[in-house]
Amino acid sequence: MSDSAAAWAAIEAIRNERLDALFESAPDRVSQLTIEQSGIWFDFSKTHLSAALVDGFSTLADAAGLAPARAALFAGKPVNVTEDRAAEHSAERGVGAAESVARARALHARMRGLIDAIEAEAFGPVRHLLHVGIGGSALGPDLLIDALGRDANRYDVAVVSNVDGCALEEAFARFDPSATLLAVASKTFTTTETMLNAQSALDWMAEDGVEDPYGRVIALTTAPQKALEWGVDETRILPFSESVGGRYSLWSSIGFPAALALGWDAFEEMLEGAAAMDRHFKLAPWAENAPALAAFADLYYAQIRGCETRAVFAYDERLRLLPAYLQQLEMESNGKGVTRDGAPLDRPSAPITWGGVGTDAQHAVFQLLHQGTHLTPVEFVAAIEPGDALDEAHHRQLLLNCFAQGAALMAGRANDDGARAYPGDRPSSTILLDRLDPRTLGALIAFYEHRTFVNATLIGINPFDQFGVELGKEMAKAADQGGERFDASTRALLSRAGLG
Ligand code: F6P
Repeated sequence: MSDSAAAWAAIEAIRNERLDALFESAPDRVSQLTIEQSGIWFDFSKTHLSAALVDGFSTLADAAGLAPARAALFAGKPVNVTEDRAAEHSAERGVGAAESVARARALHARMRGLIDAIEAEAFGPVRHLLHVGIGGSALGPDLLIDALGRDANRYDVAVVSNVDGCALEEAFARFDPSATLLAVASKTFTTTETMLNAQSALDWMAEDGVEDPYGRVIALTTAPQKALEWGVDETRILPFSESVGGRYSLWSSIGFPAALALGWDAFEEMLEGAAAMDRHFKLAPWAENAPALAAFADLYYAQIRGCETRAVFAYDERLRLLPAYLQQLEMESNGKGVTRDGAPLDRPSAPITWGGVGTDAQHAVFQLLHQGTHLTPVEFVAAIEPGDALDEAHHRQLLLNCFAQGAALMAGRANDDGARAYPGDRPSSTILLDRLDPRTLGALIAFYEHRTFVNATLIGINPFDQFGVELGKEMAKAADQGGERFDASTRALLSRAGLG
């Protein structure tokens, strides 16, 4: 038996205890399972992690080579084995191989230079930024701007990802073409949806009489040559490193719209917050390491208790896009069926990430969480400082509800009438920010990245490729060239829609 298999067997042999029993047997449970880092309070005490489980997973981490894997990640080694590439998102925030950090700094300086030029009206008066991109080229900047840019009055930014023309039309209706810059964000600069949206945005400008639409395009990409060929001037191409994955790219020039909308200082603070989390992840022992502990709980539920989903609820309107961001980060990274060596995975991959905002979700989906037959680990994310200036009753209600839900899921309530009984013993973790600002948001996102990495390493997969998305792309192209090769159902759909 390998060391990892032995460690898994030891974890499986640990008795599953109820949460109330865990609290009773360890009076210092809250301090043992709470970590304060970078203005964020991570409370894992309402999960089923016990001292024995934390030890068990720490042993597994050692057996699975988590420390050397982490060292390889930060050293810029080719940890993305299937593509023979490094995964250097942390270098973007100054933590990584010296030459990668230096390159990221230089590219950031280039981005800053362009932002300074826009602010100095080198493009005339600019009021709007239309950012087209999809997946990792949209979700990160969209989250940052929605979370932090509500009071910012600098530029009105629309992040458009969907190829559905309705998405672009919404932006067109809001924006004045002559006061708009167009950011085309695509790591590969080949993604069909993005390139079509970019072309339509150029047409919209041209139709409105903008003299040189291409002169208003900024490209954010690792493929500058392709951007050049597409017509973007070299001075307005903001490259980033090939070793930064799409879903890890908001720290790079993909974050350009956020840096423009929020200001350069805010962008830098976000990088600094993430760097602080990098250092924590690098240095803290597993039992005191927020990303590691979170991943231990994830693995316990997915691997030992058979949970197929995990739910994240932001009790903060400003973080309403967080679940969507995490869906790509976690599911595109760890939704794999093979190990790093290409062998079939002999255990479940990452669970399905889903979620929403509190308190809305309480009145929609929490029924299942409290009484349904599925066990779903829940994560609450909230901030102590309110984001609104209304009567404090709003924020008070928000936080009270957040904490009460975690307590109710755990405590449950007996009742002779089954329909009114709550089984309780339902786990949750709570991530409580002192305040939502660029620094804490940077740290929070970096925490999720590292947690995803720990999960991947402990089940033995490569979180940095995404071959699973290719087949659908190929088939969409094939359908466009005539759907004869398709099954009868798909042929009928194509025909009914007048497409084949
Ligand atoms: O199809 C998936 C994907 O490759 C994601 O990994 C990526 O974030 C997204 O598409 C967009 O890709 P690009 O930035 O190359 O346009």
